Amino acid sequence: MIPTVEWKNGLVNILDQSLLPEKVEVLVCHDYQTVVEAISNLRVRGAPAIGVTAAMGLALGGQSIHVSSFEEFQREFHVMCDSMSDARPTAVNLFWAIDRMKRVLLHRKEESLSSLQQQLIHEAQTILEEDIQMNQAIGDFGAKLITDGQTILTHCNAGALATAGYGTALGVIRSAWKTKKGIRVIADETRPVLQGARLTAWELQQDGIPVTLITDNAAGALMQQGRIHVCIVGADRIAANGDVVNKIGTYSVAVLAKVHGIPFYVAAPSSTIDVTMASGQDIPIEQRSSTEVTTLHSGRSIAPEGIDVLNPAFDMTPAEYITGIITNRGVVAPHTIATMVS
Ligand code: MRU
Repeated sequence: MIPTVEWKNGLVNILDQSLLPEKVEVLVCHDYQTVVEAISNLRVRGAPAIGVTAAMGLALGGQSIHVSSFEEFQREFHVMCDSMSDARPTAVNLFWAIDRMKRVLLHRKEESLSSLQQQLIHEAQTILEEDIQMNQAIGDFGAKLITDGQTILTHCNAGALATAGYGTALGVIRSAWKTKKGIRVIADETRPVLQGARLTAWELQQDGIPVTLITDNAAGALMQQGRIHVCIVGADRIAANGDVVNKIGTYSVAVLAKVHGIPFYVAAPSSTIDVTMASGQDIPIEQRSSTEVTTLHSGRSIAPEGIDVLNPAFDMTPAEYITGIITNRGVVAPHTIATMVS
């Protein structure tokens, strides 16, 4: 599979997810502004992938700074960081990665500008590699929770496409599949942008993992019929009390799972935990354009002109609905999540 994001020939390559599954196209970014645009417009999306891509974009931006002092370099770099942090508000991985990139400049006042530029590339690459390792660890811990023959419901896309590779929720599914467990995945289509239909279904199909696509509205009926044994989703930000913000519709799945006595797990790396947020209520929820709701992907209108629309991109699932959080350091009860922070 083409990597979600990579540093190649001094540029940032992004697999353009807004075109999937119809077209598999790589966006070659020559400047950091193109990377900001790609994050804002969901060409690359998913919390860990947003963080990794932001780091790559800032490394790219750093290469274009031609000044004569460390102070000027840092000033210009921080302007780029501010612009990057405006790309999207909810996934904390964006701000976590920007902070890591800023910290590269700490205590390097005496180094040459070309050395700073190299260090920025090195840090972005490290963030990417660490993300893949964290996902594999999540996969290994999570696979132990899955038993042979289970059907797993997932929402949105928390796969290789949403990370630097392997995936979080889909990482658990990949690891379970590798251990020859006869599993099946039910993918919620995930309105309005259809990350489940366009990305999760595509990604799992590519890997030959059995997957069935459903409308979001069908999840409750399938649970009622006993056809879903476990739910696993990703996260965009986890608060100190274990509340989880993830793609809109996650809360509905969690409530349904609780009513039907189905385990509901969240899979996320430590870079998604934000202990500065006491509870999920404090986490900013992105509101996206009304056209995502009023038009189909083809551009065709499905609502009357001028209709009032609400389009929150994420919702908050309180800790009490979550059976466990699968992290790169182990599986924990939501209220103990703060102990998993690096
Ligand atoms: O709007 P998106 O596509 O960026 O939302 C993505 C999600 O909500 C994912 O479930 C989350 O980021 C976890 S990805 C491992």
